[in-house]
Amino acid sequence: MKQYQTVVILNFGGQTTQLIARRVREANVFSVVLPWSAKLQTIRRYHPVGIILSGGPASVLDPDAPRCDPGIFSLGVPVLGICYGMQLTAALLGGAVERAEEREYGQIRVRMKTGNPLFNGLRRSSVCWMSHTYQVARCPGGFTPIASSEHCPVAAMMDARRRIYGVQFHPEVTHTEEGRALIRNFLLDICHCRGDWTMEAFAQMAVEHIREAVGPTRTVLLGLSGGVDSSVAAALISRAIGERLTCVYVDHGFMRKGETEQICQTFARDFPLRFIHVDAGDRFFAELKGVKNPERKRKIIGRAFVEVFRAEAEKLGKLDCFAQGTIYPDVIESGKATGAAVIKSHHNVGGLPKKLGFTELIEPLRMLFKDEVRALGETLGLPHDLVWRQPFPGPGLAIRVIGDLTPEKVDIVRESDAILRQEIADAGLAEQISQYFTVLTGVRSVGVMGDERTYDYTVAIRAVTTDDFMTADWARIPYDTLRVISARIVNEVPHVNRVVLDITTKPPASVEWE
Ligand code: XMP
Repeated sequence: MKQYQTVVILNFGGQTTQLIARRVREANVFSVVLPWSAKLQTIRRYHPVGIILSGGPASVLDPDAPRCDPGIFSLGVPVLGICYGMQLTAALLGGAVERAEEREYGQIRVRMKTGNPLFNGLRRSSVCWMSHTYQVARCPGGFTPIASSEHCPVAAMMDARRRIYGVQFHPEVTHTEEGRALIRNFLLDICHCRGDWTMEAFAQMAVEHIREAVGPTRTVLLGLSGGVDSSVAAALISRAIGERLTCVYVDHGFMRKGETEQICQTFARDFPLRFIHVDAGDRFFAELKGVKNPERKRKIIGRAFVEVFRAEAEKLGKLDCFAQGTIYPDVIESGKATGAAVIKSHHNVGGLPKKLGFTELIEPLRMLFKDEVRALGETLGLPHDLVWRQPFPGPGLAIRVIGDLTPEKVDIVRESDAILRQEIADAGLAEQISQYFTVLTGVRSVGVMGDERTYDYTVAIRAVTTDDFMTADWARIPYDTLRVISARIVNEVPHVNRVVLDITTKPPASVEWE
């Protein structure tokens, strides 16, 4: 296997350690995140071209605080300490750390000295993200302060000879104006990285890891939802172990128009794996008959999904490992979800492997952010529109029909949604809107069609722009595009005589209507 230059990131428990890894990857440099306690010998095995020490919640003044092996400073490779990582560098090399008089939190103006490679090309003063209670009071021998803020005289330090750097602020977060440039400087100018790491390289390494984890003969089961994450996981694992991967696609009958066909075609045709399509629509409809409450709908769908999947898995006999398309934001969310009020119990199959008796999990996308997963999907040869699919809730169209469900009502949402998607794509707006769909409102109203009075359904258009789906604004679709969408829906979708536009932000509304 081709050897890629590797930057080792030692994790001291900071919230943003994975963001550091992401920034390094954005500079086309491979990185691995190791625990702070990694042995020097382990770190050496990666032949790192640079080491980054992350932030973390501890105080270096605490005798039990995490300390990495000080031998890292003698490996002869550049080191960058961030926040706690900088304080630890100072403490381990003979400097002094103290409790700051004023805790700095948020976007703080930092003045930077010129004439050092870390700040090369950066402005002399810029806004940086700070979050610290402790700070370096005295630099270790050989170091000089190279930045300061109002309350932090040593906001950065360097020992140019040994190529050891520390920054009190967080260059990895987007709130630090020139953070990316700083990280690039460290990687390219100080560590002399070539920047030749690509998604294809990630795919090759992930394939090797999967082969190693699964071994030469064992088998893997994966639940394919048809979403981006599980599809990319399936394609990747298929590349690693071929037909020893079995994918079970449970079709609950609430997918968008053309979606099931595309999934079946893609996996039956382009990827060697065992693909099982379970058409369970009738069962889901039967269980949901007369159910109006959104939360009950979600619970019923979640439970039925697990039961159908389990029945199918039992038919397959014993498979060795369970694979999931868990991505990095899922990992963060599951860590901090405790205590938050449940607004909507998002349907997820997190507990599925345990229920099925699997002890071994394969999660090859755990380290990736959504856009990286999409890039990987393209690299693996998945269809463009599958890879760039907008988010779609697990319970599917079932929560886009307000109130009780019938196949006819679901068809109204499916057909109107297809028209909306097509018109948004034709208008070239698809990439500007984060999520857009139609909702079959419970409202029926009077209309006129030809000379006849009608009493038919109202369809709502919901389209939002957002970065994280926690808050959202309604998308400003041009009136002319809306006119075409509305005309097509009332003309082409039976039983719809009115189209309305949802112009509510989140909060107070949520994105979905149920
Ligand atoms: P809300 O409606 O909570 O939507 O503002 C935020 C995002 O979450 C999606 N969503 C769901 N996803 N199961 C899911 O997997 C669900 O039950 C569910 N409910 C909402 C929604 O589509 C949006 O992207």
